[in-house]
Amino acid sequence: MSGRLEGKSALITGSARGIGRAFAEAYAREGATVAIADINFERASKTAAEIGAKAYPVRLDVTDQTSIDAAIRTAEEKTGGIDILINNAALFDLAPIVEITRESYDRLFSINVAGSLFMLQAAARSMIARGKGGKIINMASQAGRRGEALVAVYCATKAAIISLTQSAGLDLIKHRINVNAIAPGVVDGEHWDGVDALFAKHENRKPGEKKKIVGEAVPFGRMGRAEDLTGMAIFLASPEADYIVAQTYNVDGGNWMS
Ligand SMILES: NC(=O)c1ccc[n+]([C@@H]2O[C@H](COP(=O)([O-])OP(=O)(O)OC[C@H]3O[C@@H](n4cnc5c(N)ncnc54)[C@H](O)[C@@H]3O)[C@@H](O)[C@H]2O)c1
Repeated sequence: MSGRLEGKSALITGSARGIGRAFAEAYAREGATVAIADINFERASKTAAEIGAKAYPVRLDVTDQTSIDAAIRTAEEKTGGIDILINNAALFDLAPIVEITRESYDRLFSINVAGSLFMLQAAARSMIARGKGGKIINMASQAGRRGEALVAVYCATKAAIISLTQSAGLDLIKHRINVNAIAPGVVDGEHWDGVDALFAKHENRKPGEKKKIVGEAVPFGRMGRAEDLTGMAIFLASPEADYIVAQTYNVDGGNWMS
């Protein structure tokens, strides 16, 4: 049986672990060849080897234009051109407004926002030159739908992703490049282990306590798992999504409605 992404070439940023890795596994299962593009090249190499012949590692720092251009070139040379980009790499931080540092602000905006925009630009240029259209999926968050007291900078980066998805979606559809986004809620994994530790520090909680609270608050009844998001990521990359333009979809167990 042929997969829904048979013969496609995908590049997923930040896919050495977590949600990006689950996307890479799902895409490979559906027949795509996947670039595991991550700043942690050692882990990207391990992940690619574990996924198998359909995956290959790429060294990528989304804050560095030379690195972005090189990653796109590698994918072009390896597969003949990119059909799908998932802008997934991002960092989280947490601090009360009066304690936010410029360093944290610059780091989050350069990875989460500028990194996604200039990856999207480089992939779009490549897709336009090839003339076959493409699919670009940005990772937003419920954090981009509403501010949170301790999470101002991360929330602002994810609101920017929703806005960039709209603008890029509107500009690129004439090239038959669909730009859409996924907004997860709370997804368990190494990322949320770090988030939990930050909340423990700033809200004076026990380790694991914040995870338990946010999990119980999800209408579905538990935190998300990376695998909960793969259906939407496959759908948005498939021809079934050709007429979907500039949208952000909540996949969050019912946390958010918009
Ligand atoms: N986990 C959640 O609860 C949750 C919720 C909403 C949205 N999201 C979003 O989903 C996406 C994936 O989240 P996750 O939980 O898998 O995160 P994660 O922290 O587990 O993985 C992020 C990956 O990005 C890589 N990375 C970091 N900086 C990079 C850079 N400069 N260049 C290239 N790669 C870099 C890391 O090495 C890592 O492999 C992110 O955009 C995140 O904001 C996550």
